[in-house]
Amino acid sequence: MRQDIQEILFSEEVLTKRIKALASEISKDYKGKDLVVVGILKGSVIFASELIKNISIYCSIDFMAVSSYGNSTETSGVVRILKDLDNNIEGKDILVVEDIVDTGVTLTYLLKYLEARKANSIKIVALLNKQARRTADLDVKYIGFEVPDEFIVGYGIDYAERYRNLPFIGILKPEIYEK
Ligand code: IMP
Ligand code: MG
Repeated sequence: MRQDIQEILFSEEVLTKRIKALASEISKDYKGKDLVVVGILKGSVIFASELIKNISIYCSIDFMAVSSYGNSTETSGVVRILKDLDNNIEGKDILVVEDIVDTGVTLTYLLKYLEARKANSIKIVALLNKQARRTADLDVKYIGFEVPDEFIVGYGIDYAERYRNLPFIGILKPEIYEK
């Protein structure tokens, strides 16, 4: 598995440190609010776990699953809800946890979907941001790291369901998805 990685961008130590800083910022900003952390399956699971462990205020957690790339490396532009929230979010302060924002199409769609449910607020935290590829006008409140326009895997992020279990973030060798 490791031999498929061209370059390690962020080690486990670097990721953990940054996520702790994000969690403390979030804990401060949401003090006194009714925080619901919404992880987007499956890519955000490791990031979301690390984040909530370090949030020091009351919060609840929920999950959604949306379709994205399938086995390809390009977005289809079609977003499907595969798993919806378990609980009502009316009046709550929603923090959507995403692994990586690329074109922004997925989150733009998701936000519109959630906005219809009368939450008090909806904000986004993304571990990674690939700004070079953004086409949608999307406000990402908290960002862990900027990444180059390369195919990224690890720390929950996959290529064809593989590499999610890598404890770091790296660039996948193009020959893996070009063959
Ligand atoms: P967007 O709708 O183009 O912003 O795509 C967002 C989703 O595409 C992310 O949540 C990921 O699941 C996936 N994605 C985007 N870039 C990458 C990447 O470099 N590696 C793996 N998945 C990616
Ligand atoms: Mg995703």
